[in-house]
Amino acid sequence: MIKIKDVGKTYGNGNIAVEALKQVNLNIEKGEFISIMGPSGSGKSTLMNLIGCLDRVTCGDYHLENVNVATLDDNELASIRNKKIGFVFQSFNLLPRISALKNVELPMIYAGVHYKERKVRGMEAMHRVGLADRMDHKPNEMSGGQKQRVAIARALVNRPAIILADEPTGNLDSVSSEEIMAEFQKLNEEGVTVIIVTHEPDIAEHTKRVITFADGYLTSDRMVEKPIQALDILKQKEKALNASLNGGNKDER
Ligand SMILES: Nc1ncnc2c1ncn2[C@@H]1O[C@H](COP(=O)(O)OP(=O)(O)O)[C@@H](O)[C@H]1O
Ligand SMILES: [Mg+2]
Repeated sequence: MIKIKDVGKTYGNGNIAVEALKQVNLNIEKGEFISIMGPSGSGKSTLMNLIGCLDRVTCGDYHLENVNVATLDDNELASIRNKKIGFVFQSFNLLPRISALKNVELPMIYAGVHYKERKVRGMEAMHRVGLADRMDHKPNEMSGGQKQRVAIARALVNRPAIILADEPTGNLDSVSSEEIMAEFQKLNEEGVTVIIVTHEPDIAEHTKRVITFADGYLTSDRMVEKPIQALDILKQKEKALNASLNGGNKDER
């Protein structure tokens, strides 16, 4: 699905040129669940931008579903982004003045979906991320975890083949992070290819394959033998919480 061959990406030129990616080779099949790790400045976001057709390679080849992305003009790139790719960001990137549902409907406006169908599909997406009762809330009336679930609903309304998430749990507490990872695991089980950037090793262990970057180079690529299941962790946390609450009651008696 994704074939990256000898890819380099340089920002700027002359003596201010920054080589953000160097000789990167990477193949990703449909249905994979991948995390990308590495220190700040190592090229992770640059890679996500290339994969997501937000930017173009400086050298080498990038094929997305057998299309050489370098041959596409800006309109074709925008169209691929809209149809094939859903984006999720660390800072949610929701519009503050419109409801959660309207935020989720936005990508469908750009895709030219009729407003009645927009509403139906928007509501479906809100249901699936567990926010059926928050449709009319504005982003600033929601918790971080809820905002990120709205962002996921927005990312999936055009039924993309690929979800790209750049540090999606970076601003979230541990329970909300597990909930977000549960959403990604569910999507991946349904066949969506999911690629996330993360700094947190235990978040990476929820995915099936971990790729590490350092200084623009891809330095390691390994499979995760037994990915952590977010729903299991959430159940454990709930049990522990209930136990401590019951314990608290006993003390009072
Ligand atoms: N638009 C840009 N213009 C110039 N340099 C950039 C730009 N975006 C990123 N860089 C540089 O490219 C390198 C890789 O950045 P980035 O891909 O954002 O790293 P990461 O996401 O791993 O923190 C860094 O040195 C960064 O400063
Ligand atoms: Mg980054």
